[in-house]
Amino acid sequence: MKITKICCIGAGYVGGPTMAVIAEKCPHIKVTVVDLNEKRIAAWNDENVDNIPVYEPGLGEIVGKARGKNLFFSTEVDKAIDEAELIFISVNTPTKTYGTGKGMAADLKYIELCARQIARVSKTDKIIVEKSTLPVRTAEAIKSILDNTGNGVQFQILSNPEFLAEGTAVEDLLSPDRVLIGGETSPEGQKAIEALVDVYANWVPRERILKTNVWSSELSKLTANAFLAQRVSSINAISELCEKTEANVSEVAKAIGMDSRIGSKFLKASVGFGGSCFQKDILNLVYISKAFGLNEVADYWEQVIIMNDHQKRRFSRNIVQTLYNTVSGKKITFLGWAFKKDTNDTRESAAIYVADDLINEQATIGLFDPKVPYQQVLSDLDYLETRSSVENQKYIKSFDNPYEACKDAHAIAILTEWDEFKDYDWQRIYDNMQKPAFVFDGRNLLDAAKMKEIGFVYQAIGS
Ligand code: UDX
Ligand code: ADP
Repeated sequence: MKITKICCIGAGYVGGPTMAVIAEKCPHIKVTVVDLNEKRIAAWNDENVDNIPVYEPGLGEIVGKARGKNLFFSTEVDKAIDEAELIFISVNTPTKTYGTGKGMAADLKYIELCARQIARVSKTDKIIVEKSTLPVRTAEAIKSILDNTGNGVQFQILSNPEFLAEGTAVEDLLSPDRVLIGGETSPEGQKAIEALVDVYANWVPRERILKTNVWSSELSKLTANAFLAQRVSSINAISELCEKTEANVSEVAKAIGMDSRIGSKFLKASVGFGGSCFQKDILNLVYISKAFGLNEVADYWEQVIIMNDHQKRRFSRNIVQTLYNTVSGKKITFLGWAFKKDTNDTRESAAIYVADDLINEQATIGLFDPKVPYQQVLSDLDYLETRSSVENQKYIKSFDNPYEACKDAHAIAILTEWDEFKDYDWQRIYDNMQKPAFVFDGRNLLDAAKMKEIGFVYQAIGS
């Protein structure tokens, strides 16, 4: 089966960049990305590529080149489904906020709606690809809906989890460590797998394209994220121990990372991991383990999240304690709100929880993030439902300029490791702050010796 038209449902952080790269690398394939959200689609179609809704280094350029040629963004979902031979499902799968599995299981309602829509519209055989992060055995549910509500056409369901990390999405998509495709073992299943392999083989070496059964593929995604998150929680656990001893977590990380069996990546102690995947995927893993009665397995993985929550909380607690046990009425400036650098995504960012704690202590938060708009910050805080939106607006103020944000602050907290923070005129910032001037570096980003020389009371994670 030769693929000539692809549809992707969901124009978010996964669907947008992934389809842009497929379109760029496969000029012979027409790629249409659809979404119900009209504003989002309008932003993807904005003439100025700086205004596309997902900030990723290099993405605007690729979108600009392919858009209107073989890459299209549209709200006409039915039309794109009808045309395509291959459909990616990249809709959101948030953690459930109600009913059974609340706070743990993935909410599959958007996936189910998609499957029903595909079944209703399709008049020709199609390959359906799960791209969203999903609990194991979701493909089976999608298949059941399609087969029972469709118009008698044949559907093949593939699992093709996305491993891109935000902030490096374009790089990760252009040269992935591996592409994973799970499908049925039947001849039809194998044919569908080969059709998708042929798409990726336009730029990914074939030996990097792994073929597995559907469930191995689904579980590999959860496992990869659980292992990565576990490394961060492991080094964060050690960071607390370092603070009580004379050890330095960066030195420890370097020393253990040089062991080729351990490796040096993902050993940066921080204020805690965020992002839309780590916590959600581990919760999914915990939930399915519990569902199978595997309580020890569930507890083992849950600890990764417990450690992460602890890391965020002890960061805010330390700020309060260091500022003489009260931050009431004091201005504390956050540099960074995104969950990591080079993205405008804020989902599960540690900054949200640290801000919430400090507002509970009646601190005023000044904020500067190079890519996150104030509306997003407010909506993140409102989502916690700790206090009213009006109250949140009173306690957190965003600034267009870092120097204004830091003016008259009692303390600065670094929440995101944006490169530009390193190059600020820290002497100027110091001169305009309340004294003693505190800096709490949640990313170990700044040069400790330099900061202390200027006169800051500087505290980093794990030293
Ligand atoms: C992750 C996976 O890396 C990716 O493969 C998957 O497809 C989606 O989930 P992402 O969440 O975009 O990607 O970013 P990632 O780079 O993994 O960082 C996640 C969080 O961990 C960030 O908050 C980051 O700051 C934090 N982190 C990462 C650390 O605190 N220390 C580290 O050493 C690495
Ligand atoms: P991710 O990080 O997984 O890409 P996002 O939330 O950024 O998640 O993007 C998911 C997108 O999917 C959203 O823009 C949302 O509007 C869209 N979406 C959800 N359900 C549907 C649907 N049934 N049809 C079309 N788009 C949908």
